[in-house]
Amino acid sequence: MSAPKSMNIRAIRGTKDILPGEAGRWVAVENLARDLFARYGYSEIRTPVIEETALFTRSVGEATDIVQKQMYSFSDRGERSITLRPEGTAPVVRAYIEHSLDRKQQLTKLFYMGPMFRAERPQAGRQRQFHQIGVEAIGSASPYLDAEVISLLANFLKQAGANDFELKINNLGCDKDKGVFVDKLKKGLKPNLERLCEDCQSRFEKNTLRILDCKNPDCKKIVGAIHELPLHCKDCAEHFEKVRQGLDLLSVKYAIDNNLVRGLDYYTGTVFEVSSSKLGSQDAIAAGGRYDNLIKDLGGPGVPAIGFAIGVERLLMAISPQPTAHSPQPNIYIATLGDAARKKGFELAGELRKSGIAFSLNSLSSMISAIIRIALANISLLLSLH
Ligand code: HAM
Repeated sequence: MSAPKSMNIRAIRGTKDILPGEAGRWVAVENLARDLFARYGYSEIRTPVIEETALFTRSVGEATDIVQKQMYSFSDRGERSITLRPEGTAPVVRAYIEHSLDRKQQLTKLFYMGPMFRAERPQAGRQRQFHQIGVEAIGSASPYLDAEVISLLANFLKQAGANDFELKINNLGCDKDKGVFVDKLKKGLKPNLERLCEDCQSRFEKNTLRILDCKNPDCKKIVGAIHELPLHCKDCAEHFEKVRQGLDLLSVKYAIDNNLVRGLDYYTGTVFEVSSSKLGSQDAIAAGGRYDNLIKDLGGPGVPAIGFAIGVERLLMAISPQPTAHSPQPNIYIATLGDAARKKGFELAGELRKSGIAFSLNSLSSMISAIIRIALANISLLLSLH
C-alpha cells in the first residue's frame, strides 16, 4: 500500500539516523574495537537480527523486564514467534552451540557489534534501536579470565576517550548461593512488601534480586534497612578474591557494589557495570558478567563463559574529545565546462578512483560558486573580527 503524498514519514520513535557527519565517530569506535579485541585473541561473529523468541525467554529469563515488557516479538508467515534481538549474548551462545564451536578450541573468544532492540520509553541515552559492541569468552572458569575481560573493557573505554568512568563489580554466587540469598532477601522484604513500588511488588516472587538495584527511593530505603550481603560458598568466595587480585595486578580500578545484580537471569558469579558521570539517569555505558550455566541450559556443552556489552550511543555521549575516523579528503579537483569536458572528466575520475586517489569532480560553474561561497564566508568572518 503506498502512502498518501502529503504524509510526513519520520524515523520511528526511539530510533535514530546516523548521518554522514556523525558516522566517522562510529567507524572510529568500531575500528578501535576490531583492533584491540583482535590483540586479546577475539574473532568477529555476526548473528542474525531476528531469532526464535524462545531463545530470549529461556536465557534472559521469563520474569525479567526485557522479556516481560521490552521485546519486539511477532509471528512470521509460518506462525513462528520471532523476536528482534534485545541483546547479543544469547544469539552468540546459540551460534556457538549450533556450529559446535567448542570442538575447534577449548576457549572461544568472540566479539560482535550491531543493533539491538528494546521497546523502552525513549529518553536521552535510551533508545528502542541501539547498538552494542560486545565480547563473549566461552570455555574457561578461570577468575583470571574475568579480570582479563574486565581489563579489556577498561582499556577499550580509556582508548576510546571515556576517561571519566566508574567500574563496579559484584559476585552473585553460584546457583545454590543465589537461591539461599534470594530466600533470605524475601524473608527480609516480606513485612514491607506493600511499601515497595509496583514494579518491585511484581518482582518479589520471581525476580527478587532485581529489587536490590531499584532506583525508587522508598525501595532503596527498605532494601538498605534489611540489607543482607550476598552469600558465597567457599569456591565462589575464592573466585571473587582471585578476580580482585587479577584486577589489582592489571591496575584496573574498581569498587565493590553488593547491590549490583543486573537485569538478565543468566548471570552467576562475577558481574560488573561501568557508568559515566557524563551521562544523565541512563548512566551505564557497559555491563557484563559470568554466565556459567547458560550454554548447558540452551542445550550445549557444560562450559562456563563471561562477556560484556558496551552501549555505543552512550559511549559516544561520554567521550571527549570526540574521536573521528580518518576520511580521505580530496587533494585533486576536476572542474569541467561543457559536455565534452564533462565526459573527459568523468573518464579521468574513473581512472583516479581505480588508483585510490581522492578527488572531487564538479562542473566549472558549481566549483566557481563554491569558491565564491568560501571566499564570502571568509570575508564576512574577517569583517566580524574587526
Ligand atoms: P545490558 O546491561 O542489558 O547487558 O546492556 C549492555 C549495555 O547496552 C548497557 O550498559 C547500555 O550501555 C546499553 N543499552 C542497553 N539498553 C539500551 C537502550 N535501550 N538504549 C541505549 N543503550 C542501551 C547486555 O545486553 C548483556 N548481553 C551484556 C553481556 C554480554 N553480558 C555478558 N556478555
